[in-house]
Amino acid sequence: MPVATIIDGKRVSAEIEQETVAGVARLAEQGITPGLAVVLVGEDPASQSYVGMKERDCERIGIRSFDHRLPAETSQEDLNRLIDGLNANPDVHGILVQLPLPGHLDTEAIIARISPDKDVDGFHPENLGRLVRGLPGHRACTPFGVMKMLESYGIDPAGKHAVVVGRSTIVGKPMALLLLNANATVTVCHSRTKDLAATCRQADILVAAVGRAKMLTSEYVKPGAVVIDVGINRADTGLVGDVDYDDVLPIASAITPVPGGVGPMTRAILMLNTVEAAGAAV
Ligand code: GUN
Repeated sequence: MPVATIIDGKRVSAEIEQETVAGVARLAEQGITPGLAVVLVGEDPASQSYVGMKERDCERIGIRSFDHRLPAETSQEDLNRLIDGLNANPDVHGILVQLPLPGHLDTEAIIARISPDKDVDGFHPENLGRLVRGLPGHRACTPFGVMKMLESYGIDPAGKHAVVVGRSTIVGKPMALLLLNANATVTVCHSRTKDLAATCRQADILVAAVGRAKMLTSEYVKPGAVVIDVGINRADTGLVGDVDYDDVLPIASAITPVPGGVGPMTRAILMLNTVEAAGAAV
């Protein structure tokens, strides 16, 4: 029975953080402190927790954070004004608007209003367009983090069949494009895919980003596949992924756990993108 490699997101994110800290030190020699503005509208507990972690990351790494917590009833005009001010502020190199936004706000308009240079989430249409064209630009943190994990474990997507389950703008679509740019043959599956299990079983690299606890069982996995679990679902037992980890572990060649897999990578890449934005602004 093959023993799967457990892909350790804490280890890889710590390596990325070292790179980021080195970048902060280089910028300090030029008198620059990278700055990240974090905007949270409303009181969603999960979002509050994520934003708090991002601010602690900034403090540890030496990034100045600009904290903007706004009431749920904040108007589009007020949020636009805030974004415009952050775009114009030379001390702010990265802007992150925590999603989801309350329903009365136009998320697409807000994302498009962020200066593409400061869009460290990689959500702006220009940065997504740059990804499609294979040009440099900010990459979405979670999918880019997955690419860094694969690289760190010597898993080259070139020539492999990668199957991405989920087509969100935050994960599925940019993930598919990053894998394609790395010369994988890519299939994107979603809720309307017929015989999902049969398609997933073709994958050399299977990326799960559906948001349904333990949905992908061993029936979905080819023996020897690399399994990347982007899901973070709250269950009675704590956090669980989209992959049924215990079921899949015996047949995968490598697998990310939840927690401790992809999760820590997202914030590590956010910090790296912020320091890169500050460096590019010099
Ligand atoms: N909500 C869930 N994931 C993310 C993310 O990566 N960035 C932002 N801004 N909001 C999110």
